[in-house]
Amino acid sequence: MALTSLPRFFIIFTLLPLITHSIPFVVFHGVADSCTKKGVKHFTELLSNWSNTQGYCIEIGNGVWDSWFMPFSEQTEIACEKVKSMSELRQGYNIVGLSQGNMVGRGVLEFCDGAPPVKNFISVAGPHAGEASIPFCGTGVICIILDGLVKLAIYSKRLQEHLAPSNYIKIPTDLDGYREGCTFLPKLNNEFEKNATYKERFSSLEKLVLIMFSGGKAFSQAEIVESESLYNFYCKPLFFSGTVLSRRTEGDDDSVLVPKETSWFGYFPDGAWDPILPAQETRLYTEDWIGLRTLNEAGKVEFVNVTGGHLDITDDDMKKYMVPYLVDEDAPENPTLLESNSRGQPSSTSSGAMGFVRKLIGQQDLQLNVIRHP
Ligand SMILES: *[C@@H]1O[C@H](CO)[C@@H](O)[C@H](O)[C@H]1NC(C)=O
Ligand SMILES: *[C@@H]1O[C@H](CO)[C@@H](O)[C@H](O)[C@H]1NC(C)=O
Ligand SMILES: *[C@@H]1O[C@H](CO)[C@@H](O)[C@H](O)[C@H]1NC(C)=O
Repeated sequence: MALTSLPRFFIIFTLLPLITHSIPFVVFHGVADSCTKKGVKHFTELLSNWSNTQGYCIEIGNGVWDSWFMPFSEQTEIACEKVKSMSELRQGYNIVGLSQGNMVGRGVLEFCDGAPPVKNFISVAGPHAGEASIPFCGTGVICIILDGLVKLAIYSKRLQEHLAPSNYIKIPTDLDGYREGCTFLPKLNNEFEKNATYKERFSSLEKLVLIMFSGGKAFSQAEIVESESLYNFYCKPLFFSGTVLSRRTEGDDDSVLVPKETSWFGYFPDGAWDPILPAQETRLYTEDWIGLRTLNEAGKVEFVNVTGGHLDITDDDMKKYMVPYLVDEDAPENPTLLESNSRGQPSSTSSGAMGFVRKLIGQQDLQLNVIRHP
């Protein structure tokens, strides 16, 4: 009995490593979004299909609400526990961060003790070096509420504890406030107090892909009006009756990240609003606070510039800049990928394609509303 079952046992065990070899990926979505929304679900599924690897969208709390109001220290802890509890990730995994989801992804990478190793990190429009505006209060069409934010005490304990994006807002002209009050980004970037472990973990990535959005469609007047009313509805109540100084950004850039270069770790210089420094000229890079320079000098960072507004990624760009880093290099050629590559792709310049892409990526409600009024 025992003898006859032995060979079978053996075969299963020798096959297992082959079957489970492909490295899965996890997706962390952006603010005001959730894993159950069609956009993120579709996005995760597409990446899975094209790369022939398993993808998981990891939810934090209840999704939409908690992405706005749960501080990142907590969001990161939850994500850390989830990642550790998933047996599928034990051999290592890749991270795909969408916008604010990059803060969670990097939090897990740097802060999560005892977590499985992260191999590749694909960042889609992440506010890595900070953000100078509340996301979607300005969907690129209205305002950067700079002066207002300072007045409204973005670094107060109250806002830090109850408005997630405040945890990565960096007002270059209020660095004292930022250093004292901002509870997440300074730690994530090893900005003031340094922790060698964070740097070591960040530097251990095999590949870091930083996707920045430049240029896209211009917004029409109707969209601007709608965005403003959405802004008043969603954002004003957060700030009570505070005066908010509106300033419109260019409609054809990443309309959420200010400056868009933060996706590449570029940012405003200390104490001023211009010029925007490329990553390589920031102290984070030159002094190698978290290992970005180490990674880059080892040829492990891809700075990718794609056409489109915030998260307006096309199928083509997903295949070019994401799928290759999710595909297992050791795996045989992927028929799914080849097949979908040979199909005609929607042109990134046609407005139809843009609309489709926006939904695909799980555009937050605000932006979906905008799309319905072309
Ligand atoms: C992914 O592949 C599965 C199985 O072939 C298919 O049912 C599903 O519709 C695909 N998903 C997307 C988003 O294309
Ligand atoms: C640095 O981070 C590690 C990992 O989270 C932690 O164990 C250690 O205590 C930290 N060191 C300092 C000096 O804070
Ligand atoms: C990114 O691409 C846009 C549009 O093609 C171009 O205008 C811009 O100079 C590029 N930026 C960088 C930093 O390469």
